[in-house]
Amino acid sequence: MTINRQWRVRRYPAPDEIIGPEHFELTEAPVPEIGPDEFLVRTLVLGTSPAQRGYVDTRKPDLVPLGKVMRGRGLGVVEASNHPDFAPGDWVNASMGWQEWSVQTLGRGTVQSMDVLSVQKVNRSIRPSELHLGTLGSAAFAALYGLDDLGQLAPGKTVLVSAAAGGVGSMACQIARANGCRVIGIAGGPAKCGWLTDELGCDAAIDYKNQDLSDELPHHCPDGVDVYFDNVGGEQLNQVLGHLAFGARVVICGYISTQYLPERSPGPANYTQLLGRRARMEGFVIWDHVKRFPEFFERLHGWYLQGKIKAVEEMSPGIESAPDSLRSLFTGANRGIRLTRVSDDPEPAE
Ligand SMILES: NC(=O)c1ccc[n+]([C@@H]2O[C@H](COP(=O)([O-])OP(=O)(O)OC[C@H]3O[C@@H](n4cnc5c(N)ncnc54)[C@H](OP(=O)(O)O)[C@@H]3O)[C@@H](O)[C@H]2O)c1
Repeated sequence: MTINRQWRVRRYPAPDEIIGPEHFELTEAPVPEIGPDEFLVRTLVLGTSPAQRGYVDTRKPDLVPLGKVMRGRGLGVVEASNHPDFAPGDWVNASMGWQEWSVQTLGRGTVQSMDVLSVQKVNRSIRPSELHLGTLGSAAFAALYGLDDLGQLAPGKTVLVSAAAGGVGSMACQIARANGCRVIGIAGGPAKCGWLTDELGCDAAIDYKNQDLSDELPHHCPDGVDVYFDNVGGEQLNQVLGHLAFGARVVICGYISTQYLPERSPGPANYTQLLGRRARMEGFVIWDHVKRFPEFFERLHGWYLQGKIKAVEEMSPGIESAPDSLRSLFTGANRGIRLTRVSDDPEPAE
């Protein structure tokens, strides 16, 4: 009998705890049977996102009840099907949960009242599979949408990116470079900063753990920041707001430094600079733009084939490592887009 290994939520983290393996339990169950209109998917790769911390919250036990399989999107291969639109060998992107096997059906969900398919077919000729959750996946789409639609990239602009060596950030840096911008990344530690300048083509990098932003910003951005792509919020956002160029655009992608603190943190005192600088600050959620994902995919794939952007996936081996992958986003141990490899890519079809 084939076994389905699954990570279930054992306990919710306390407000001051970093999420990790101790909050989950690896259990085993038989691979489920499929019913009418269902199909069985073997997980190839699981994605990792800071948003998953929000699913494991004592104040919102309905999101993932204790004892249930952890939520998460992944990429998988159909192994058996009773659904007319899905055949064995198809690759799909779906909410699979942290498990080796899942039963899927083609439901419809709503994102901001927009009707979207719960399972998307993926072009299996574009390999390896991790590209679909990484460099050509939703983190990259967030970087592209935020920079282009909201940041209004143009050659010569000075673009500053926080959590620049993380998933969304590393894609934002590369997309801004591919569009002829001057790019400065902010990241924690010299190794990440070296990677940004040596491998990803950033013009400069600021190590916020060892350098003072208030000294470094005037040095690297003497005419101010035209576009700030922010993944971090908190004091970094406040510092950057005090150093904007005229007509700047501040794109709020995330605020990981304060998002899961028990108390809501006060807003940035420097928000008043938006007025004097005639600047604009705007947030977004990439899942509101699901219908544009094929367009984002094509643009990124084009840049990837032309060598303008590099693959930035960082793979953790085996389903055992899924909780550690999530933990790494909060300790900064990750670099690039952290994913978990659950099973090997099948051989390409003839
Ligand atoms: N708006 C959207 O639709 C959307 C979509 C996807 C993701 N997001 C958001 O985008 C951000 C990045 O997501 P990701 O998946 O790409 O994660 P990630 O950047 O790969 O991982 C998070 C990074 O944040 C940094 N970090 C963690 N705690 C921090 C703190 N207290 N202060 C400063 N930096 C901290 C760490 O980098 P260092 O080592 O450099 O500190 C870590 O590597 C998150 O805020 C996420 O919620 C938003």
